[in-house]
Amino acid sequence: MSNKMWGGRFTERPDAIMEEINVSIDVDRHLYAQDIAASKAHAAMLAAQGIITANDAKNIDKGLDTILSEIGKGSFDFKRALEDIHMNVESRLGELIGPAAGRLHTARSRNDQVATDFKLYVRDTIDELDAALAAFQHALVERALQHAATVMPGFTHLQTAQPVTFGHHLLAYVEMAARDRGRFADARKRLNESPLGAAALAGTSFPIDRDATAKALGFDRPTANSLDAVSDRDFVLETLSAAAIASVHLSRFAEEIVIWTSPLVGLVRLSDKYTTGSSIMPQKRNPDAAELVRAKTGRVIGALTALLIVMKGLPLAYQKDMQEDKEGAMEAFSALSLAVRAMTGMVKDLVPDEARMKAAAGEGYATATDLADWLVRTLKMPFRDAHHVTGRIVAKASQAGVPLHQLPLKEMQAIEPKITTDALGTLSVEASVKSRDSYGGTAPKNVLAQAKAWARRLEKQ
Ligand code: ARG
Repeated sequence: MSNKMWGGRFTERPDAIMEEINVSIDVDRHLYAQDIAASKAHAAMLAAQGIITANDAKNIDKGLDTILSEIGKGSFDFKRALEDIHMNVESRLGELIGPAAGRLHTARSRNDQVATDFKLYVRDTIDELDAALAAFQHALVERALQHAATVMPGFTHLQTAQPVTFGHHLLAYVEMAARDRGRFADARKRLNESPLGAAALAGTSFPIDRDATAKALGFDRPTANSLDAVSDRDFVLETLSAAAIASVHLSRFAEEIVIWTSPLVGLVRLSDKYTTGSSIMPQKRNPDAAELVRAKTGRVIGALTALLIVMKGLPLAYQKDMQEDKEGAMEAFSALSLAVRAMTGMVKDLVPDEARMKAAAGEGYATATDLADWLVRTLKMPFRDAHHVTGRIVAKASQAGVPLHQLPLKEMQAIEPKITTDALGTLSVEASVKSRDSYGGTAPKNVLAQAKAWARRLEKQ
């Protein structure tokens, strides 16, 4: 038997391999709720426009409700021979309500149907990711409030650079997550136009009301060009781009957790809940969750790259290549969702080793810039000269094997006679962070104010 949805002009059934390469139900079954919602909106509109009878529309609607609950309960029999979710739903509708089911596909095509379904799916996904990112921000802000004054080393080139506060470091990720959420919100705004009614590619001769279906599905308006409506997947690409960038942020944070928890560094301890042991080495506490967050980023970037490549050579309008848009994207979105939730969990109960952080913050002459700044401020020395003088003092301390504040004052004065004990006051890590009170700087009072501002902002969302 040939395919009952499109087999009119066929006499043979597809080869098993044809079926295998063509089938998408394992992936697009995840669109069932969106597919049914779009069909309900379409049927209601067809009836309102007098294209089908109110009675047919009622039966279609009831049948679709039954299918929704069958799929929800897990009793729906997905058939591979019916290729995809659209034809599985329509075929089951025929079993349930008879020939009226065949009227549902009036003035639409699977091409506008799949674009509509996937837009609805991506829109839902964006909302879920946004909520997960908000929870991540919330967890970061809570910890930043606790650690606004906890001093830790700040790094550039992974070399100790200047002392910062742990709260400041955490708030950096709150800012990144805010931009990530902004990118998702932008993508959502742009994607929110309804392709439904674009039909196969050219529109339809039936007097449909695309504004009505757009409104019923929560779209802002219908898409203005039917060819564009069925042939672009930029909404997936854009959302995947936002996802890739968000994943990269999480991956960098995950990498920091891996570094911080290494016994060589020891700045942070993860809770047992986010650590695993080794089957051979009894002492091990491995940061597997952080490592996997770092690794999942590969999938997200991979999905973006794969879809860009799928799309790049496609002429208008719909090409079957586009069926490959879903699997990687769906997998990427759930990988990101899991990564965000895992990072949130780690942030909530990681324990910074405050003594170790403070000691490490002072290692590696991290307050040398503070001494140079003192020379500029107090002796009115040009910064370049102050940098040079301080560099010589650091070299001397390093030769003597002592931190800056333990180098005798007269040794410093041998290099710069006007240095006084007042300068030594700037060399503690606490004084260092406290002094950096420029807007956006690491001073505890700034960090506390920023954390409180974020807490208020997140509350309002
Ligand atoms: N399963 C298809 C997809 O995901 C639906 C659209 C098929 N359209 C077609 N003309 N074959 O892209």
